[in-house]
Amino acid sequence: MEVIIRPDATAATQLTAAIIANQVRAKPSSVIGLATGATMERVYAELVRLHREAGLDFSLVRSFNLDEYEGLSPEDPHSYRHYMNEKLFNHINIDIRNTHLPHGQAPDLKAECQRYEELILACGGIDMQLLGIGRSGHIGFNEPLSALQSRTRDKALTPTTLAQNASYFPTPDAMPKRGITMGVGTILEARNIALLVTGSAKASVIAKAVEGPVTSMISASALQLHPNCQIIVDEDAASELTQQAYYHWIFENEDDWKPYRG
Ligand code: GLP
Repeated sequence: MEVIIRPDATAATQLTAAIIANQVRAKPSSVIGLATGATMERVYAELVRLHREAGLDFSLVRSFNLDEYEGLSPEDPHSYRHYMNEKLFNHINIDIRNTHLPHGQAPDLKAECQRYEELILACGGIDMQLLGIGRSGHIGFNEPLSALQSRTRDKALTPTTLAQNASYFPTPDAMPKRGITMGVGTILEARNIALLVTGSAKASVIAKAVEGPVTSMISASALQLHPNCQIIVDEDAASELTQQAYYHWIFENEDDWKPYRG
């Protein structure tokens, strides 16, 4: 695991988008894992800009989103499918047939989860997984106590997550109480992972995930087990990390980060 601290949310977002862009340039048929939430909106805006202004080509890219709300149709304006179409897919040259999310209204959820796992495998697995973190420490909708080897399944959302995401819905009651999510084990099979965290509200939870023990109480802590995982934080989100000087040194000195130093 490497932690990279950037001065502010804009710089952290640009670095994350550059990592995705480099993956797509290096392998145009990359399978990319995508996330939702407010943090990701800025990443997608930057990817759209790179597509328009620098010709970043998504024509062969295939994508798998982490999760979807249970019970929402793809057309529902609160669904993650709708979010992805609006924030990214409609503005780049990806083939929409190559973009995948779990179906929130699948009649047989177990079969849907199995289908999703099999589709990821059939596409050769995920080359680069983009992640955010919820205030509960979740990645995807892997709420506390998610097994660290869990697979795609449906999951009850915690009060913390319901409170965090309620503002996206007209009333708290309109928000689904369950989601379908890739499991922690599914996520850990991605060949590379980039987790973006911005803002002081996430400082405590990211410090636990990165520098605390690996525990199912904080699903993101499982990323400590992954051999190619980058955590990109802004100064605000980094404020409770104890090894900040070391993390700064890594970014300034390691060859891998040279192309990103500007
Ligand atoms: C949702 C998604 C997560 C995401 C989280 C962070 O709960 N299921 O995948 O990491 O939002 O959201 P935000 O960036 O809005 O804090």
